[in-house]
Amino acid sequence: MYLDANATSPLAEEVWEAMMPWWRDGFHNPSSVHTGGKKARAALEQARGQVADLIGAQEDEIVFTSGGTESINALLRSWDGLGAEGHFLTTAVEHSAVLRSGEALSRLMLACGVNEVGALDLSTWQQHLSSAAFASAMAVNNETGVIMDWQQASTLAQQYGVPFFCDAVQALGKIPFSVQEGAVDAMALSAHKFHGPKGVGALYVRRGTRFAPLLHGGGQERGLRSGTEALPLIVGMGAAAVLAKGRLSEGTMANVSRMRDAFEQAVLAGVMGVRVNGDPSSRVPNTSHLSFDQCEAAGLLILLDEKGVACSAGSACMSGKQHPSHVQKAMGFSDARAKSSLRFSLSAQNTMEEAMQAAAMVCQAVKKLRSVQGDGVGPVVIYTP
Ligand SMILES: Cc1ncc(COP(=O)(O)O)c(C=O)c1O
Repeated sequence: MYLDANATSPLAEEVWEAMMPWWRDGFHNPSSVHTGGKKARAALEQARGQVADLIGAQEDEIVFTSGGTESINALLRSWDGLGAEGHFLTTAVEHSAVLRSGEALSRLMLACGVNEVGALDLSTWQQHLSSAAFASAMAVNNETGVIMDWQQASTLAQQYGVPFFCDAVQALGKIPFSVQEGAVDAMALSAHKFHGPKGVGALYVRRGTRFAPLLHGGGQERGLRSGTEALPLIVGMGAAAVLAKGRLSEGTMANVSRMRDAFEQAVLAGVMGVRVNGDPSSRVPNTSHLSFDQCEAAGLLILLDEKGVACSAGSACMSGKQHPSHVQKAMGFSDARAKSSLRFSLSAQNTMEEAMQAAAMVCQAVKKLRSVQGDGVGPVVIYTP
C-alpha cells in the first residue's frame, strides 16, 4: 500500500511505454541534423508542447531541466545575479530546495510566516515586498498538502514590481494549475511527482522575463540550459503531462479525494487523539497529514512499513533526521506534535480497498505503540522478530 506519492509517484504504464523507443533505437542527439536527430528533435518539441499545455504556457516558455531542484536553483541564482537591490522574499514553509538555495544567494532571505493551518500571512508578505528584489512562494506544500494563495501572493508582488517565482512541483497533476492565473514570472515543475520519471523537470519562464542560465555549454534549450537533452525522460514527462491533464478533467482526482477522505474518517473514528493538520478546505485531494497524540512518528513508520504501508514523517528529504520539520514548526506545532505527525499521500493508482486497509493498519499501529510507549515518553525502540 503505497501512500507516499508526494515523495515520488509510481511511473504510469503509458509513460513507460512512451519512453521505451527513445532509450535504444531512438538514441540520437536532438541537435544532430541527420534523420535520427530530426526525429529526436520532433519528439523533444512534442513533449515541450505537452508540458506547456498542462500549465497554459507557450512552448517557448518551457526549459527542460533535471528536476525541481535544478529549476529552483537556476532561477533563484539567475535573479540574484541580475543585481536588483533588495532581499529575497519567500515563505517559511518552502521546500529545502528553495530555502537552501535562498541561503546560498548573495543577499538576505526573508521567510514570511504562515498561520496554524498553513496559510500564508499575506499582510506580512505585502509589508516586505516594498524592499524585495524578487519573491518566491510555493503553490502546494509538500508535507501538509495545503494549497497556498500563490495567486494573491504573485498579484501583490506584481503591484510592487517584484518578479515572482512559484514552486509548483506539488501542484501539478493534483489540482488544475495555469500560469495565466495570478502573476507568475517563473515556475518549477518536476515529472516524478505526477507519474513521470525521476531526473527530469522543467522551468517555466514567462516571455519577456529576464533569466540567465546556470549551465553554460552547447547552447541547448535556446541557450537557457546547456547539455544534451535527456530525451527518453523528457518524452516521459510529456506523456505524464498529457495523462495528468486527463486525470483532472475526467474527475479521477475527485476519486482520489474520496479515498483520502474515507481513509481519514476511518482513522479518526478508529483511534482517539488524532488531529488533521493543514486547512481542510484548502488541501490537494491526495494528502492527509495527521498528528497522533502520544505516538512517535518514527515508531509508527516502522510498524506500518512492517504491515506493507508506505508513508512519510515530514518530507522525504527530512526523513531519517530526528528534528521536527520546519513546516510544522512554522505552523506553531510543539516539538511533540511535530514528531508525532505522519503524511499519507495517495495517487490515482491506489484503490478504495487499499485506503481502508491502510486506515485499519494505522489504527492498529497507533494502539500498539501507545500501549508500549506509555504516556508519550518516547522515543521507543521496537524490536521485530
Ligand atoms: C515542493 C517541492 N519542491 C521541489 C522539490 C524537488 O524536486 P525534485 O525532486 O524534482 O528535485 C520537491 C521534491 O520533493 C518538492 O516537494
